[in-house]
Amino acid sequence: MFINFWYVAGWSKDVGEEPVKVRMLDHNFVLFRDEDGVVHCLSNTCVHRGGSLSQGKVVGNCVQCPYHGWQFDGAGVCQKVPSLGGDAKPPARAQVDAYPTEERYGLIFAFLGDLPAAERPPIMEIPEFDQEGWRCTILDYEWQANYERSIENGLDPAHNEFVHPTHGFEGANPNYFVPDLTPVEHDWGFSFMMKFVSSAGKDKDSMKMRRGEGTTEAGTGHHGPSQMWTHIHFTPTNWMHQYIYETPVSQTHTKIYLLNLRNGMLDPALDERMGQRNLMVAEQDRLVIEELEPRITPTSLARETLVPADKVIIRYRERLMEWQQRGWRIDIDAVESRGEDVVFAIPCPARRQHKRWALRPIPLLAK
Ligand code: FES
Ligand SMILES: [Fe+2]
Repeated sequence: MFINFWYVAGWSKDVGEEPVKVRMLDHNFVLFRDEDGVVHCLSNTCVHRGGSLSQGKVVGNCVQCPYHGWQFDGAGVCQKVPSLGGDAKPPARAQVDAYPTEERYGLIFAFLGDLPAAERPPIMEIPEFDQEGWRCTILDYEWQANYERSIENGLDPAHNEFVHPTHGFEGANPNYFVPDLTPVEHDWGFSFMMKFVSSAGKDKDSMKMRRGEGTTEAGTGHHGPSQMWTHIHFTPTNWMHQYIYETPVSQTHTKIYLLNLRNGMLDPALDERMGQRNLMVAEQDRLVIEELEPRITPTSLARETLVPADKVIIRYRERLMEWQQRGWRIDIDAVESRGEDVVFAIPCPARRQHKRWALRPIPLLAK
């Protein structure tokens, strides 16, 4: 898992007057909305004596700890320590990590890291969102699987033939092979396009059923370690573009937000059917991905037997290694060997301003 990327923390609609606890990168966070309606994301552990801030309440522009009532503002700075009496100034160390947040596409994104604004990788954009002629449906679901395994599956050009009867022929097509792919590099990932012969398959609800089998053009790409997109062009004008934001809850548990945009069948009455279809396809993937061993992608390519169709999987892992070499990858072994008396924090940008922090930053793999 990596710090220094944006992750979806939840739905905008789910954060109202009460603080909300969210687990990401195997850490607890609290989301709350201040009296101006601005949403904030803080480390959930109160730096006084460890209260869970999400059990408290919102007071003005602060979240108040349920244990002794300390109040932390959206920047994570303690504004009030009731036991000191009156307007006594809180101690300088009374600050929890606070993460930049942005609400977009109905989702709350949190930047979990300490990079200054100018250096942050951007959120993956959805150019079609709110565009005339496009209709968006949104789903979320959870897998008991590692997010890298999930992203690799989304990029994998060779799994459709076998995992999705709606897309492939389950190995029954004697002419099947995966062509050589040419990834196009982007700042925070790569993409590629391919054509494949799609099957009308067993999917009675398929849009393709009405046309039978045919050549579909599809493209996919990733953005950072845990965001990806897939564009499927059933015909030159009938398109479906999917954008997937995955949030690692832990190494082996992933929350997935899927925004499905289509430029045909725009009737809102068809939204439910579209959502069911997306879930059915995701379920086909889930059944396979949750059973992969090891549960986490092996660090050595020698532990698998890779072939040319795995080219994009290798490229994804190379990109992960680039971010690891920047010092952004969490050292899971060090985290898991901590004692019960230790809680780490994901470092926030303010950690670059001063050194007065009660919680230690999470261990990261050496650059
Ligand atoms: S533990 Fe939070 S105020 Fe004491
Ligand atoms: Fe799939």
